[in-house]
Amino acid sequence: MPTDASLPLRHIAVIMDGNGRWAEKRGLPRSEGHRAGAEAVRGLIAECRKLGLEYLTLYAFSRENWGRPMEEVRLLFDLLARFLGSELAELQRQDIRLQALGDLGGLPFASRTALTHSIAKTKNNASMVLNLALNYSGRHEIASACRRLMAEGLSPEEVTPEKLSEYLFTAGQPDPDLVIRTSGEQRISNFLLFQCAYSEFYFTDTLWPDFTPEELHLAMADYTGRSRRFGKTGDCS
Ligand code: IPE
Ligand code: IPE
Ligand code: MG
Repeated sequence: MPTDASLPLRHIAVIMDGNGRWAEKRGLPRSEGHRAGAEAVRGLIAECRKLGLEYLTLYAFSRENWGRPMEEVRLLFDLLARFLGSELAELQRQDIRLQALGDLGGLPFASRTALTHSIAKTKNNASMVLNLALNYSGRHEIASACRRLMAEGLSPEEVTPEKLSEYLFTAGQPDPDLVIRTSGEQRISNFLLFQCAYSEFYFTDTLWPDFTPEELHLAMADYTGRSRRFGKTGDCS
């Protein structure tokens, strides 16, 4: 999706934050925030697909999120299983390929089954890749890539950034061009630590359930005005 001739936008990653505060502001339980958040996800996927984005990555559950009350964790995975069940037909219709980033073995059975089913069913779709980061930790991703490199007996000289990236969950995908985080927090929270080396960041105070397609367009317009130098001077092409 070229935003202009010089600034391509192929991959957007989103740290969807603020569901709990959205609910609390309305005097509702946090669960209602997560439900409303799932609606916002639906809208974002459809808009990105419409715009011709190639890769959309959504941070849905971090490894650290297991530290939340068990009831909230259970609700999040129930919502995920339901979301996947209701959205599979839509993913097929929109020709979207679903992939997961994270240690899926750690997910509850029902959501893991729904996830692997949707991943298998959509594997030949080619118009957009939707990555769901689940039980995801950037540090663990890098550590486990190193473990696998070592297990395969690579020599120290063979361990390059390019090689390492082949062992990440995002192997073969372009790095995120733009990372959006909602809810006013300005941190990365263990998300795509390796892949975000030169990503542009966009922070908004909008809480995730209020993140509409219009908000996406604001983020994209902001991105379009950036100067990405990748360590060079502005004069280098
Ligand atoms: C994001 O919203 C959803 C997940 C992290 C699963 P939060 O649940 O973190 O909402 P706040 O930050 O408490 O408002
Ligand atoms: C980041 O949000 C994780 C997801 C959006 C899934 P958190 O709400 O867990 O992040 P912190 O704890 O505020 O950094
Ligand atoms: Mg949060």
